[in-house]
Amino acid sequence: MAEVIVLDSETAAGTLAAASIRALIARKPDAVLGLATGSTPLSVYAALAASLAEDPLDMSRVRGFALDEYVGLPTGHPESYRAVITRDVVVPLGLDPANIRTPNGDVATLETAGIDYEAAIFAAGGVDVQILGIGQTGHVGFNEPGSSFASITRIKTLTEKTRVDNARFFDSPDQVPIHCMTQGLGTIRRARHLILLAFGEEKADAIAAAVEGPVSSSKPGSVIQLHPHVTVLVDEAAASRLANRDYYAYAYAHKYAWQGI
Ligand code: PGA
Repeated sequence: MAEVIVLDSETAAGTLAAASIRALIARKPDAVLGLATGSTPLSVYAALAASLAEDPLDMSRVRGFALDEYVGLPTGHPESYRAVITRDVVVPLGLDPANIRTPNGDVATLETAGIDYEAAIFAAGGVDVQILGIGQTGHVGFNEPGSSFASITRIKTLTEKTRVDNARFFDSPDQVPIHCMTQGLGTIRRARHLILLAFGEEKADAIAAAVEGPVSSSKPGSVIQLHPHVTVLVDEAAASRLANRDYYAYAYAHKYAWQGI
């Protein structure tokens, strides 16, 4: 089962995830990070940047693959995930941009972009740790309800709900692209460690469904139940609909230090 850790703040969750990622890079300097966008993972990137400022680590060989990208935004658009990853991750962590890939959302090459991305992940030896947020629809990456657990990187149609949720990053809701290229649930399942973060009451249903609900493609986050190494980092509000919340706290309080997360 996923390890669920309830923390009292986003900052605490970011610090815990960052410590795990830092330890990974220290033992594997060319580690492959799976990078998520959105508001949720920002505390992880901020904590990692702060840790690196205090105690530098060679980041020059670290590689990264973004989870998803909008289709059809012009190159350099500030809300393209390439631009977001550059701004929020590559620059603050001092990564080499040449080592970081995002799915190609160019409409001219959509037919082959998915398989090309899968090949690049495969050539890199796979993702060591995948950072994940979860949408209110239960999506991980942009795998909206109904996505196959075997899916690979491909074009998807965003739900209207997701477009409305993401409209805050654009001037108006109709500027949010209708399509995206996203790693599939099958792609995400191949990452060696998943760290899923969620904060706030509006994520409580999605977290309860992902952690404790039936495994169903109608609840894409429930794919985590099929993975052998998952860490779920949530605040009290996002944990508020978990039936086994007390057990998770009990298990975490009694785990051995060598287990890490
Ligand atoms: P958020 O998005 O982190 O901005 O809430 C999460 C997601 O849609 O996966």
